Amino acid sequence: MAAEEKARATYEWLINLSDDPDVTDALRFLRQREVVHFQRFGETLNLVHDYLDRKKYY
Ligand SMILES: [Fe+2]
Repeated sequence: MAAEEKARATYEWLINLSDDPDVTDALRFLRQREVVHFQRFGETLNLVHDYLDRKKYY
């Protein structure tokens, strides 16, 4: 998840450097994908925690 946040921050930095609208659009698209990746990893992490917290019957 830290890698996704770092990628998002990097795209944000590049967006601020760019003065080409087409490049900025592509970077915004890529940045948004990183936001979604972060969210999906967070949801998956919650599922793993729920699974690990279940009572175990042997
Ligand atoms: Fe990613």
